[in-house]
Amino acid sequence: MELLLRKITPDDAEAVAALEAQCFAMPWSREDFWREMRNELAEYVVGELDGRVIAYAGAWVSFDQAEVMHVAVASELRGQGVGTLVFGALIDAVKRRGAKSVTLEVRPSNVAAIKLYESFGLHSVGRRKGYYIDNGEDALIMWNTKL
Ligand SMILES: CC(C)(COP(=O)(O)OP(=O)(O)OC[C@H]1O[C@@H](n2cnc3c(N)ncnc32)[C@H](O)[C@@H]1OP(=O)(O)O)[C@@H](O)C(=O)NCCC(=O)NCCS
Repeated sequence: MELLLRKITPDDAEAVAALEAQCFAMPWSREDFWREMRNELAEYVVGELDGRVIAYAGAWVSFDQAEVMHVAVASELRGQGVGTLVFGALIDAVKRRGAKSVTLEVRPSNVAAIKLYESFGLHSVGRRKGYYIDNGEDALIMWNTKL
């Protein structure tokens, strides 16, 4: 698989929003992603396969801390290492901007995502009760403080 990993551009907003709608119960819109591209804190990477955006990951970097906002892979291409590549590219990008730690929230039921994050040294440090408003599920809070 010849995956191209690169920084997001405004032209990607449509494809990223389409993936977002496929992956999440409360998806961000194309306009939300355009706004992110004007957000100085935001860092987003996409994975492109044969000219098609099939994965993306994004974070906000504030001082030496990164907070992951999104990670997703097209459903038909999961389980082949794409998530690891795109998340790895995001971690590299936030480290270049000076991040020394990374945090995120994830549903406890999302085994694939938790495994992915653990492979980058994140571990669970607590829960936010009833965090996800679509089904009232808790969020696991994960951190890696030694990027
Ligand atoms: C989470 C997600 C990005 C992972 O992407 P992916 O391309 O499937 O990930 P990879 O193939 O690189 O696998 C990453 C790890 O997850 C594990 N994994 C992948 N799919 C799995 C599954 N269905 N069940 C259990 N583990 C799984 C892999 O074994 C691997 O772990 P390892 O490094 O210990 O071997 C993808 O499943 C996705 O887009 N999910 C929907 C969106 C989402 O939930 N995003 C996260 C929100 S917090």
